[in-house]
Amino acid sequence: LSDLLRGGRLAATRKDVTAFTSSIAHDGVLFRPVVKINQAHVVMLMEQEIIAQEEGRRLLQALQGIRRLAARPGLEDVHMYVEEEVVKATNDRVGGNLHIAKSRNDQVSTAIRMKLRRDLTRLVATITTLQDALLDTAGHHLNTVFPGYTHLRPAQPITLAHYLVACVDVLERDVQRMKEAYPRVNQCPMGACALATTSFPISRERVAELLGFDGLLENSVDAVGSRDFLLEVLAAVTIFATDVSRMVADLIVWSSLEFGLLELPDAFSATSSIMPQKKNPDVLEVVRARMSRIQGRFASVATSLTSLPSTYNMDLQEITPTLWAALHEAEASTKILAELYPELRVSGRPFEKAGYAFTTATELANILTRKYGVPFRAAHKAVGAVIKALVEHDGTSRDISTGLLEAAVKENADLALQIQQQDIEDALNPTRFVDAHHVRGGPAPREVTRMLKTRRRRLRSSRQWVDRKSADQSDAEERLDRESTAHEAV
Ligand code: ARG
Repeated sequence: LSDLLRGGRLAATRKDVTAFTSSIAHDGVLFRPVVKINQAHVVMLMEQEIIAQEEGRRLLQALQGIRRLAARPGLEDVHMYVEEEVVKATNDRVGGNLHIAKSRNDQVSTAIRMKLRRDLTRLVATITTLQDALLDTAGHHLNTVFPGYTHLRPAQPITLAHYLVACVDVLERDVQRMKEAYPRVNQCPMGACALATTSFPISRERVAELLGFDGLLENSVDAVGSRDFLLEVLAAVTIFATDVSRMVADLIVWSSLEFGLLELPDAFSATSSIMPQKKNPDVLEVVRARMSRIQGRFASVATSLTSLPSTYNMDLQEITPTLWAALHEAEASTKILAELYPELRVSGRPFEKAGYAFTTATELANILTRKYGVPFRAAHKAVGAVIKALVEHDGTSRDISTGLLEAAVKENADLALQIQQQDIEDALNPTRFVDAHHVRGGPAPREVTRMLKTRRRRLRSSRQWVDRKSADQSDAEERLDRESTAHEAV
């Protein structure tokens, strides 16, 4: 494997075997964090007088000089790359002390956490952009009466805005889960070394502070072997993926010819290479497939961790790229959806179709109860019986007459009523239906307007969280650069 690690316990190295176990192809994303970790570690070694000041200066200068990960055959991983580069830039004596009191085991977990905290912050930011797009779109559709479904059958009228705010709320819980995972990600394993810490008088606290961590992952066995932080983030991303998948499924179905409720933007659709009439929801289908793949990635990582012996095993190396892939898929899909939602157009007049017109039937039963004193169960039966009779003769809600309804009430509740035609018309009007549902959380435009406002406020606080975390991360980097430069100059 790495030549630095040969000639000791192990002699021969085989290129094909190294290539097989190497993580270098996936290590590019860890290069920056690994250099930072080395800088912080050297600064601490100098402060603790574990290495001489002059030696430390040369190590820091050598670390400064490594600009990128230039993979070459036979490279084991980014950790060995950095060490090899430092040895090249200095010599065996100086470079040979870079690895005092550290191991790749604590280093890799630290590096993953440093990249993950950035990725997580960025994903939260992107989800807030999607939420913002949904709220904007909702703002244009407060009065767009839209069929609500249960069992994928027309149920009751809502508004498109009401539906979109529901999506925002679902995403809000996803964001909360991600934010809640953050403090568990942002703990520093450095100093755990291979698993048992070290006999050198290191300061783990100082390294954690220099790298911008909230604290230490104290127990060294836990520190090197645990990946629950990673699985937890994947779990949050997986839940998010199921949520997005459902949102996307709604759009695919609603934009179908059969539903005819929404028109997808051309730029987010595709046509067929043979069937000229086709307008296919390609973007939405790809998002759906990627969301499913994220679930597979969660399962893959969970399976790899199941029954894995404690502390470090190479299996841990193999799960890391799966995390990045899931985050990348989530991020890219979220971005494109944020562009797509505002471009949706409402099409058709669903409530003129027979089946949809009956979606206000609940309100007719409500009026029979509220105004005419019919017990609700009997009113439900009476309205149901009227609709059954109409459906059998291709009738619509417009055919519900006072006579029909009175007969059904007589039959089901044994009440002789004189029902006003106006009441029937009012009950069956979808716009009135929506307006009348103005209790907390309901579809009435004034209630949805109120909800929109509170969601906008919440979104501002998510953005502040993102700004705070991004600033913390950048501040830590700048602080480390300053410390590093100061120690180089001493
Ligand atoms: N490339 C490894 C990873 O990504 C680094 C740790 C290797 N540690 C070891 N003991 N072989 O996990």
